[in-house]
Amino acid sequence: MVRILVVYDSRTGNTEEMAKSVAEGVRKAGAEVVLKRADDVSLEDMKRADGIILGSPTHFGTMSDRMKALIDESVRIRGDLDGKIGACFSSSAHYAGGNETTLLSLIKAMLIHGMIVAGDPLDVGGHYGVVSVGKPDAKTLEACEALGRRVVEIAGKLK
Ligand SMILES: Cc1cc2nc3c(=O)[nH]c(=O)nc-3n(C[C@H](O)[C@H](O)[C@H](O)COP(=O)(O)O)c2cc1C
Repeated sequence: MVRILVVYDSRTGNTEEMAKSVAEGVRKAGAEVVLKRADDVSLEDMKRADGIILGSPTHFGTMSDRMKALIDESVRIRGDLDGKIGACFSSSAHYAGGNETTLLSLIKAMLIHGMIVAGDPLDVGGHYGVVSVGKPDAKTLEACEALGRRVVEIAGKLK
């Protein structure tokens, strides 16, 4: 069975809501999902997953300190994530507030791990990942589910 790890950070709940919908999409696609905050994730969780989806609030146009701390710690398992599928999502306060640069910061980390990165599906946007401005609305949460489903589909093909 495909196992997907959804890792997120969130101070005020917006990214957490997105993470729950991403996890729901994974579940609906028939895979096992592990949903954890960046603070609670172990490197073993990352190694054991077939795919990893990272979600961070936008903090000064980049990922949050807690997400960065996890990424920095993960240098210890560099090589073990090689070839896994990855994807990402972010919440920001403003439309041009840096949510895309946050996604790129997450994507860079995944690429440095040798991961294969998927954007959000074409029919829900088709860019770097899912973003929300403020509290995610129903359409954004649907896009989050679709992102989860997409990662399961690709992970299944790679397995
Ligand atoms: C330290 C800090 C820095 C932030 N920097 C930005 C920013 O650069 N651009 C932006 O649009 N919002 C910024 N925000 C707002 C958050 O990205 C936004 O409120 C987001 O929805 C919070 O997600 P959360 O509820 O998951 O914590 C910042 C918030 C904090 C606490």
